[in-house]
Amino acid sequence: MALNKAQEHLVELNKTADLGGGQERIDRQHEQGKMTARERINTLLDPNTFVEIDKFVTHRCSNFGMEKKHILGDGIVAGYGKIAGRTIFVYSYDFTVYGGSLGRSAADKITKIQRMALKMGAPIIAINDSGGARIQEGVASLAGYGDIFYQNTIASGVIPQISVIMGPCAGGACYSPALTDFIFMVKEKSHMFVTGPDVVKTVTNEVVSKEDLGGAQTHTSKSGVAHFMGDTEEETLMMVRELLSFLPSNNLEDAPIVPTDSTNEENESLNTIIPEDPNKPYDIKQIIEGVVDDGYFFEVMAGFAPNIVIGFAHLDGKTIGVVANQPAYQAGVLDIDASDKAARFIRFCDCFNIPLITFEDVPGFLPGTIQEHNGIIRHGAKIVYAFVEATVPKITIITRKAYGGAYIVMSSKHTGADINFAYPTAEIAVMGADGAVNILYHKASDDEKAKAKEEYAEKFSNPYRAAELGYIDEVILPQQTRVKLIQALDMAQTKIRSNPAKKHGNIPL
Ligand code: HXC
Repeated sequence: MALNKAQEHLVELNKTADLGGGQERIDRQHEQGKMTARERINTLLDPNTFVEIDKFVTHRCSNFGMEKKHILGDGIVAGYGKIAGRTIFVYSYDFTVYGGSLGRSAADKITKIQRMALKMGAPIIAINDSGGARIQEGVASLAGYGDIFYQNTIASGVIPQISVIMGPCAGGACYSPALTDFIFMVKEKSHMFVTGPDVVKTVTNEVVSKEDLGGAQTHTSKSGVAHFMGDTEEETLMMVRELLSFLPSNNLEDAPIVPTDSTNEENESLNTIIPEDPNKPYDIKQIIEGVVDDGYFFEVMAGFAPNIVIGFAHLDGKTIGVVANQPAYQAGVLDIDASDKAARFIRFCDCFNIPLITFEDVPGFLPGTIQEHNGIIRHGAKIVYAFVEATVPKITIITRKAYGGAYIVMSSKHTGADINFAYPTAEIAVMGADGAVNILYHKASDDEKAKAKEEYAEKFSNPYRAAELGYIDEVILPQQTRVKLIQALDMAQTKIRSNPAKKHGNIPL
């Protein structure tokens, strides 16, 4: 049917808005191997589910000739849609419009979407590709960032917030992603830094490329700022969809149940993973994968502090958060980075009603001046705090070493775990036999030391002293792990525990 003139005008306006900064700039974006803001949203969401709002918003700036050029949408594409059938809110910076720079109107669009996501109790995803504060708008632009940070913080712990960095993200603009729960980056395509290479050179005389300073590789392995890196934009957006499949929409819901073909039978192959020699490494992920549904573990922050492993999986269809020492890397020792990595993940799981399963094989905290001077005491305290504070079901399995303070902090009975299992290979003690004998028998002959070591190993290098004291609820065979975890999780699903009323605690930061 023919449209009247007013209707035709609307169709034209929509077409113009869809082009953002124009075809030429879209082509430039494509030449650089980047998608446009709308293409990214449409790749992320279920097909044909995106509903755009505020498409005709424009800037209200009249500095530096801006009054002569108004681009519909003002460089932000925002709205809502579905991922795996569930509602999510999304906004995407459009680099074709003033380099994706953020002005007052664009910030208003973003905060509107943030408030809607919070009100509806649905996750929000921010896709970043921006030159930062819109220079022509001055302080109004900075104010816009402040408003976004405010909404990020208020929504923290209520709805999952995810940031996807697909281009530049510089200066104070980095702090919105940093306030969200998870950051995704694209290999060699995205960069985050508070000050870029030029400023670094001027201030410190240091010469560094933008890739080394703030590329995806740097932030997923050295700084721990980003959680995931995709090889391409498409792959990165698919990883976002996958992450969401483990999460509830908000803090009042449980994550969706995912039916599994895995049976609840015992798995004998688990019995041979831990080496006879307690000083030999093994890969804790083999145990995790041998226990969870379909053997599938979605690891988070895989490249950063690999001495601790964190991630999501399903157990009998329910989402679990896994925290595990990794004996295959630095013997699974706890250090500053591992502490930060684990503590933030534990707190995320607790915010969103995701039970915590801890696999423990830890020789202790990493000794040395680097660790002490950089505050291992302050950072290590975060793990204790996070585990104690968490009110979700908490189940721990000690596979091998559980020494000293590290035994206590890794979700021990004493710091609030609901069920604590140990394998027969568990060694729950103040320290290993070598260290203990060197302190207690430092003046003794080699023969006496060897005898003392044997005695110590017999007395303490096992789970039975702790089991006698009720600190371990059950000593189990590795093959029973899945069955035992499912039973414990089922038992704990009605858990009621809340901490005393307070404004908020004061986690050591
Ligand atoms: C206005 C901007 C802009 C900005 C880019 N553009 N950044 N316009 N404000 N911040 C415009 C450019 O003038 C250009 O317009 C178009 O966007 C594309 O930019 P190019 O430079 O041609 O693209 P490219 O070579 O790919 O370089 C992208 C870039 C660079 C690396 C992002 O543009 C850049 O360095 N921009 C400035 C970054 C910056 O310093 N931002 C302020 C950070 S401080 P035309 O019309 O010529 O195509 C900050 C504070 C936040 O953000 C504080 C929060 C609390």
